[in-house]
Amino acid sequence: MEFGAFNFLLQLLGVLLAIAVAAYIYLKNVTYNYWKHKGIPQAEPIVPFGSLWDVVKSRKSIAVLMRDLYLEFKDNAVFGFYSFHRPSLVIRDPDLIRFVLTKDFSHFQNRGLYYNEEVDPLSGHLFMLDGAKWKNLRIKFSPTFTSGKMKHMFTTVKECSDSLVQCVTDEVEKNEVIEIKDIMARFTTDVIASVAFGIECNSLKNPEAEFRTLGRKIVKPRPVMNAMLVLCPSLLKMFNIAATNKEVSNFIIKVFKETVDYRTSNNLVRKDFLDLVIQLMNKGFVRGDDDKEPLDKPEIASGKITMLEGAAQVFVFWLAGFETSSSAATHCLYELAINQDIQKRLADEISQILEKFGGITYESLAAMPYLHKVVSETLRKYPSVPILNRDCNQDVQLPGINLSITKGTAIVIPLLGLHMDPEVYPEPDKFDPERFNDDNIARRHRYAYLPFGEGPRICIGELSLVIVEHSQVVRGVNPFLCLLQECGLV
Ligand code: HEM
Repeated sequence: MEFGAFNFLLQLLGVLLAIAVAAYIYLKNVTYNYWKHKGIPQAEPIVPFGSLWDVVKSRKSIAVLMRDLYLEFKDNAVFGFYSFHRPSLVIRDPDLIRFVLTKDFSHFQNRGLYYNEEVDPLSGHLFMLDGAKWKNLRIKFSPTFTSGKMKHMFTTVKECSDSLVQCVTDEVEKNEVIEIKDIMARFTTDVIASVAFGIECNSLKNPEAEFRTLGRKIVKPRPVMNAMLVLCPSLLKMFNIAATNKEVSNFIIKVFKETVDYRTSNNLVRKDFLDLVIQLMNKGFVRGDDDKEPLDKPEIASGKITMLEGAAQVFVFWLAGFETSSSAATHCLYELAINQDIQKRLADEISQILEKFGGITYESLAAMPYLHKVVSETLRKYPSVPILNRDCNQDVQLPGINLSITKGTAIVIPLLGLHMDPEVYPEPDKFDPERFNDDNIARRHRYAYLPFGEGPRICIGELSLVIVEHSQVVRGVNPFLCLLQECGLV
């Protein structure tokens, strides 16, 4: 190497080293003192990973890390955390959680996740969207999740469960050990492909069905993309980078368009999600459970949704629906296998009720209180979504702890931590469905159990139940509008 080139390389190395040292000093002495300066205890950061060192080293998942920190900071209402360079506030106290998720929702509407509708139309879905666009879509979509509409889809669920029984019977005959997680994911994939896309994908019969193969791809960890999503979403935006896997995106858009075109040109109506999405594309609102137009139509009909917006919502129903439900079912079966007494009691209840109703119906499922307790306890121990995210969109004072948080602060609700708190759930590792009898539920803070989240951004699949619980149901009125009213937002 020539002396000049060598000299240049040396200088370059010197500059890079100086930048690295300056960044180190800045992170250590300025960034990582953010919470200390505010008088808030913090999870000790390590340059440049912040509080994520155990996750980077693959020692813990983010859920387990948050649970451990939740337990460690047991005397604090909140504590600070750093996702690499970004300060986040972790909220432990259920009253403050209520403040963020519900009471003061307008300051914490967004999840602050990266999406880019321009290059990645499927990322423009309910889970990701922010602000007015999210609110408008959520108002439109909430009436699609009423119990009346679910009833119409029950036949499909029942058909898929018959295939599930067949699949498990065949597998048990062939093998001593069966992979229940994959079978449950194939079951929920078949249900969602059918009700959301109008497609019989039959992954229970054919494990390599395209929907299932892509589903496996979607839940596969992508360390580089995930790191970029946390570290530099603005860079992704600047270079117009799509976060959704291209193959998945092309497939979903193609299947969605083809099915919508087929139904429209053949005037085919099937009472499923896709039908409701087509209504939103054609009219801007969905008809009520009684097939009448909604009373609050002018408010919710502010514009029809486009084909791509429709595809994005169907995509999120699949994405948010298949893995969450199959993981819940898998954990439930696991606990029933190791707790034979609970299994027996549940089997007895199911047999009795099925005899009474003459088989599995929507109504018979609602008449199984012990099943409800078992599922609730499963979601306590194994919440499918173990942390909730919010983004503070305006400076705000948190009540009771004299802390003002600034616009842009990330908020984390450590859901798994709350569910495993021994002061709220004694012997938290024990699987005990009786934690969900009426007396025990009444004894706990409502925000100490949040498997579906809470407030206006609660899981849309859970919305109808919450509204019933709040006794806010008004016939023909969009349940989501009731929830917004409760938060003082409309
Ligand atoms: C056991 C099953 C499920 C669990 C445990 C679950 C849990 C959750 C949780 C914790 C959230 C975040 C709530 C928050 O931030 O406050 C969420 C959001 C969401 N879920 Fe679910 N979910 C389940 C099934 C489903 C299904 C079947 C669908 C659709 C068919 C669905 C659609 C959604 C959507 C669209 C959102 C985003 C809502 C918004 O931001 O407006 N989920 N879910």
